[in-house]
Amino acid sequence: MRAKDSASTAERKSLLDIVALRADTPGCEHVVHLNNAGCGLLATPVLTTMLDHLHLEARIGGYEASAARADGVSAFYTEIAALIGAEPRNIAFSGSATHAYATALSAIPFAAGDVILTTRNDFVSNQIAFLSLRKRFGVRVVHAPDAPEGGVDVPAMAALMREHRPRLVAATHIPTNSGLVQPVAEIGRHCRELDLLYLVDACQSVGQYPVDVTEIGCDLLTSTCRKFLRGPRGSGFLYVSDRVLTAGYEPLFIDMHGARWTAPGEYRRSDTAARFEEWEFPYTTVLGCAAAVSYTRKVGIDAIAQRTPALAARLRHGLEVIDGVRVLDRGPRLGALVTFAIRGWEPAPFKAALDARAVNSALSFREFAQYDFGDKDVDWCLRLSPHYYNTTEEIDRVAAMVAELAR
Ligand SMILES: Cc1ncc(COP(=O)(O)O)c(C=O)c1O
Repeated sequence: MRAKDSASTAERKSLLDIVALRADTPGCEHVVHLNNAGCGLLATPVLTTMLDHLHLEARIGGYEASAARADGVSAFYTEIAALIGAEPRNIAFSGSATHAYATALSAIPFAAGDVILTTRNDFVSNQIAFLSLRKRFGVRVVHAPDAPEGGVDVPAMAALMREHRPRLVAATHIPTNSGLVQPVAEIGRHCRELDLLYLVDACQSVGQYPVDVTEIGCDLLTSTCRKFLRGPRGSGFLYVSDRVLTAGYEPLFIDMHGARWTAPGEYRRSDTAARFEEWEFPYTTVLGCAAAVSYTRKVGIDAIAQRTPALAARLRHGLEVIDGVRVLDRGPRLGALVTFAIRGWEPAPFKAALDARAVNSALSFREFAQYDFGDKDVDWCLRLSPHYYNTTEEIDRVAAMVAELAR
């Protein structure tokens, strides 16, 4: 059976037209793609948009091509804003989620003794950035404890907010290293109550779940476009609230796009989140992102949020019963990232065994998640992350493969 044809009868009748969505996704013919937490498969309209723009650049020139597609470029802002409940003026394009995050951090005038309050499951690069700020500016990094069932203990985190009055509260919605979904809106309610600056890393949740910046109560939010939004690589965005814009936060290295050099000794920053962008843009990528977000919105984020974690739950159940496999995801709410340890295998050969069976997966190591993997006492795990275009047949087939490999 070709991978593309593996939709079951139930899936043919489901809310989403899985057969059509797979037909729109060339990768489905070649692989069982369970690495959406790494990078989703491009849909044909995204690919076509990008190829068309490259051809246009080649034909008429790069600057001229971006001017000709100014409507498509502005669609990037309107599409993202519509997806996350913001306005286009609050959105900045970025080359990666990490770059968006670092640019946001650079806008905060940290002083020695300031506290950054975060969680034990925040993304590895964010944790490294906090340690770098500690080294350079003497900020203190405080981690809220986890609840016994997994995930951050929100009342304990709120108590730490009252005790430390942190300069920044930072939470990752879904970490890279497990299926955990953190209660970012609950954390946000405490931040709003205490008027604390709140930065959310929504890299794994945008495109997987509805993400609404007002409901979360964040001041800043970062994401990539390449994962559950199925956009191209080398893309991301930063949401900047009106509160932050009005308060005058600006990135440390603001450029001629983010500001105007109004006199020899003066510059004036942009009123919008454009102050967090740079002048040079990968326009093909920006247009591809706009097409990807438009595609996601047409598929429907509510339907995606129903199907994608349900496929992951099915996979988790399939893996849990295998002797020698330990599913590692813990927490009151679990999303589309499935992680497990397997007895008797080393990481590279295990992943290679799945590669050889045309199953895309990813490895996570202790250095991606010092706290979480320390608690779980594992040095590595395999991560499988389905998306809505995967089928239940693929999920069951991969669980059976893992069972065979575990024997
Ligand atoms: C939770 C989380 N935050 C941030 C990032 C970094 O994204 P990027 O690679 O676009 O910088 C990732 C990437 O895996 C992630 O999983």
